[in-house]
Amino acid sequence: MQKTLSIIKPDATERHLVGEILAYLEKNGFTICGLKKIQLTKKQAEGFYAEHQGREYFERLINYMISAPVVVAVLSRENAIRKYRELMGATDPNEAAEGTIRKLYALNKTHNSVHGSDSEETAMQEIAYFFSDDEIVE
Ligand code: CDP
Ligand code: MG
Repeated sequence: MQKTLSIIKPDATERHLVGEILAYLEKNGFTICGLKKIQLTKKQAEGFYAEHQGREYFERLINYMISAPVVVAVLSRENAIRKYRELMGATDPNEAAEGTIRKLYALNKTHNSVHGSDSEETAMQEIAYFFSDDEIVE
């Protein structure tokens, strides 16, 4: 089964939305194969978002990502990457479709509650960034 990386971001952990978002993922057919709550370091956040270095929002994004703990999760289902991107909704909640996580919970384009991998290649890299093989169960 295909796997993707999800992050429940600081705005959502701070508002105690972790359980609600995980329940919504399970309700929508995703299986949680790995799960942990972590406080990202600046280095870790910068490494994770390395491809965004130099963008006008980069520093804002990094400061936000280290402002509170996050919950990282490995999700599996058929077409997990595409299906989770769909369920997550557009980056900007103002543009996100009804019923998407970002439409339901996100505050704005930076504080947008969740992350999801965007391709098979990034999913594999991002899962390995946070999880060792023995922390992922089928
Ligand atoms: O998360 P997603 O893949 O939808 O968007 P992205 O373009 O890969 O950007 C990564 C993250 O950077 C977003 O989820 C936002 O938190 C942040 N961002 C921002 O604060 N302002 C922007 N103009 C674009 C992205
Ligand atoms: Mg992205």
